[in-house]
Amino acid sequence: MLTWMDSLKGRSLMRLTSFTDEETFSIIDLAAQLKARRAAGVRGDLLHRKNIALIFEKASTRTRNSSIIAARDEGGGAEYLTRPDIHFGKKESVKDTARVLGRIYDGILFRGFSQKTCEDLARYSGVPVWNGLTDDYHPTQIYADFLTVKETFGSLENCTLAYVGDGRNNVANSLMMGCAKCGIRYVCCCPKELRPEERILAEAEEVARKNGVDIRVFEDPVKGVRGANVIYTDVWVSMGEESKTAERIKLLRPYQINMDLMRATGNLEGRLMFLHCLPAFHDSNTEATRETGALEVTDEVFESKYSKVFDESENRMHTIKALFVSSLADRKSV
Ligand code: CP
Ligand code: NVA
Repeated sequence: MLTWMDSLKGRSLMRLTSFTDEETFSIIDLAAQLKARRAAGVRGDLLHRKNIALIFEKASTRTRNSSIIAARDEGGGAEYLTRPDIHFGKKESVKDTARVLGRIYDGILFRGFSQKTCEDLARYSGVPVWNGLTDDYHPTQIYADFLTVKETFGSLENCTLAYVGDGRNNVANSLMMGCAKCGIRYVCCCPKELRPEERILAEAEEVARKNGVDIRVFEDPVKGVRGANVIYTDVWVSMGEESKTAERIKLLRPYQINMDLMRATGNLEGRLMFLHCLPAFHDSNTEATRETGALEVTDEVFESKYSKVFDESENRMHTIKALFVSSLADRKSV
């Protein structure tokens, strides 16, 4: 028997604060249950006749495919809509498109630039809207990250996560709030130019305090990672910021995750893992890294026993499924 919280029915996920801490844990728990059920060969019908629109303004491998398979596994459907395919924002306002798609679909997952676009879709469509990444936040990623931590360490308790790199990007913003909500100590190691925005930091600090953990920001990554159990990084240049590539590489070189930095945790023999939301620049095998070689993480760390990045990417599917089921499923279909 699967369990999830009724309070999530019909709800949108704009950012992690859209859901209470209890609801956040319930998404992660449901994802673990759905994962076990799928491993046992069961494909359910929790999303039977539910149709989900996937509006993508930016590229995606994990979020797109996770959403399609999550819906399909449970008897639902998902339609991938990119900007050139639909009138969205060009010949039709976001408000009008939202009202049209809200009449046709049961839910909308949005990936794009502006957080306001995501919020407008939720405001005007009348159906649940899930943020699949904006310039500001990447909330669905964090459910997968924490499911991976829970699977690897057995629980989220007594855990310190050190994020190293661009401390103010969408993943870092959501990760900081996610740690605060789930009682994980958060350390951000970044140059002063890429510190978390004060407003976002203050908001997360308030939640962290309530949950008995702290948030710390370090310029020196070697000092910052001391005692960390999870080392996390993301690309140095997020989608839409490509013009800043040279400047970022210069600024973030000292923040590369290599074996020396993993060793600096003091936990090589203890509880330690490496996470990355992916895609990752860990070798020269991409068009983007042919000239530069590895950027935010070395191949040695990426391929090491500490790296759980492919569990993490698989967990995108199970956690997105949990989100869809929590928001859309009728209890009676269990
Ligand atoms: N981590 C993540 O969101 O990956 P995609 O960009 O491939 O969806
Ligand atoms: N910060 C990255 C995350 C990709 C999943 C980006 O926005 O490109």
